[in-house]
Amino acid sequence: MSGVEAFAHFSRRDGELCAEQLTLNGLGDQFGTPCYIYSAAALRDNFDAYTEALSGRDHLVCYAVKACSNIAILQLLAERGAGFDIVSAGELERVLLAGGDPAKVVFSGVAKTAAEMRRALEVGIHCFNVESAAELEVLATVAAELGLRAPVSLRVNPDVDAGTHPYISTGLKENKFGIAIDGAEAIYQRAAELASINVVGVDCHIGSQLTDATPLLDALERLLALVDRLAAQGIELDHIDLGGGLGVRYRDEQPPTADDYLSQVLTRLAGRPQRLVLEPGRSIVANAGVLLTETIYLKQSGDKHFAIVDAAMNDMLRPSLYQAWMALENAATSQAPEHCYDVVGPVCETGDWLAKERLLRVSPGDRLVLFSAGAYGFTMASNYNSRTRAAEVLVDAGRAHLIRARETLADLTRGEQLLGRD
Ligand code: LLP
Repeated sequence: MSGVEAFAHFSRRDGELCAEQLTLNGLGDQFGTPCYIYSAAALRDNFDAYTEALSGRDHLVCYAVKACSNIAILQLLAERGAGFDIVSAGELERVLLAGGDPAKVVFSGVAKTAAEMRRALEVGIHCFNVESAAELEVLATVAAELGLRAPVSLRVNPDVDAGTHPYISTGLKENKFGIAIDGAEAIYQRAAELASINVVGVDCHIGSQLTDATPLLDALERLLALVDRLAAQGIELDHIDLGGGLGVRYRDEQPPTADDYLSQVLTRLAGRPQRLVLEPGRSIVANAGVLLTETIYLKQSGDKHFAIVDAAMNDMLRPSLYQAWMALENAATSQAPEHCYDVVGPVCETGDWLAKERLLRVSPGDRLVLFSAGAYGFTMASNYNSRTRAAEVLVDAGRAHLIRARETLADLTRGEQLLGRD
């Protein structure tokens, strides 16, 4: 498969790969490499696919900020009505800076601190997705100190196998996430007794990059059974949050579309009054972004061909960490001889690679495009090997906006101190 076919808004014209109307090589000239480039049209389309599928049903789509947290991207989604799923005080500040509505924020994560809870209560978030009995008690204390009632949903662990990579599977008993569904009722009872807690919902998130809706629907069935048991005990919930997890096409996966998936969810929710909350990340942003990198050297050792590029595992960790496959192509068609390349970066680790065994025509100086890089790309970047983090650019209707400047060498040592010597 040619990488570009799967990725709307990234297409080749006269041999040049483009983001919307702009050539990636032109963007590389303007902003340098490595550079993340996002398409605003793709972001909007992917978000709208959710809201259109849910029209006619009370819903809240809370974009998972961790997937790609640039404030311009959050702003674009907020303007389209998105809520946000956050996991830290840092993500909350990003949402607020971007003009996001705190009343549409859900706060997930196993280790919320009292300080984070306080800030979230002060700005009035939609709900805390509480992940343990211990967290519930701390939240109740913090809310009582502020004279507020904390809106709470329990994140239950429905014990279903998401059938995805073990590092991104979260819904099994052995995973650290959520409250075992069998023990949830007792904790709901406790929550209902606490004056500073307002029980509003239930949620789960069973994993990421799910290419089959079945585990998500199984999880929903288990949640609905719990909702019914709670109602029988006098605990009525306002919302059901199914988390994120819908997969995307990186190579030849065929995940359900948002519409396919949600029509099955809505069938199961028919006749129920609860609002549906979702926390999609990857399915909104993965295929709305690419990583542009320049080839520094070509190298051959024995039969092996390497294209050594200026992006590395510190810019894009997914191949190193999950052996992730993402499409990779030359930004322009090339007449160079075709070889089977490993595309590797400058970092001093054997695990530093972006793509392995790819047939490519490439010359030094050519720019290469790693597709599907919008989700868990920049947000997982680091300064390892004292490399400055990449620039981020958003293309929107023929205009390129620099939404994050490339870091400078001065940025690398900001906050560091030499020892005093007197
Ligand atoms: N909600 C919660 C509570 C989550 O933990 C996550 C992702 C999401 C929503 C969004 O899930 P999505 O729709 O993006 O699947 N770094 C990994 C993915 C880690 C996902 C972590 N949690 C990767 O690059 O594949």
